[in-house]
Amino acid sequence: MKIALGNDHAAYQLKEQVKAHVEALGYETHDFGTFDEASVDYPDYAFFVGKAVVEGECERGILLCGTGIGIGIAANKIPGIRAALCHDLFSAECSRKHNNANILTMGARVIDPDLALKIVDIWLNTEFEGGRHQRRLDKISNIEDTMAVERAGQLAKIVKEQNK
Ligand code: RB5
Repeated sequence: MKIALGNDHAAYQLKEQVKAHVEALGYETHDFGTFDEASVDYPDYAFFVGKAVVEGECERGILLCGTGIGIGIAANKIPGIRAALCHDLFSAECSRKHNNANILTMGARVIDPDLALKIVDIWLNTEFEGGRHQRRLDKISNIEDTMAVERAGQLAKIVKEQNK
């Protein structure tokens, strides 16, 4: 399994630890940066990693910022991404079993690095349970699809008005 990694400046150190850990476990990684502590904007890295996951270049992704919140919000704007913010082992396990989370997010300013690596372990080793949970994920996909169709409809009306 290939894992996409992305982070902002606040999580550069944690990303280095997570990357070394994931590679030591035998996973291939694609590190989309950032590669130092110079200030950057987390949505850029959420986009790189989310795109790699939905396009299939990487099976899953790990995104890190100061809190794990902003980078997760940004990743979840990409249709098909299910990014889960997990700062405990139970949430990490459930995010795979119930939500089939394809991106794990964590906050370097929130979590102890040792716990972060344990969360990575459980998140990488837990499978989706399917069944009733798949029905719920299908409903999430329906929301994505419906919003896209509605927006396309609104855009069509605007373009029509402009060309009257
Ligand atoms: C950067 O200062 C910080 O806002 C960012 O890492 C993250 O915590 C945003 O959610």
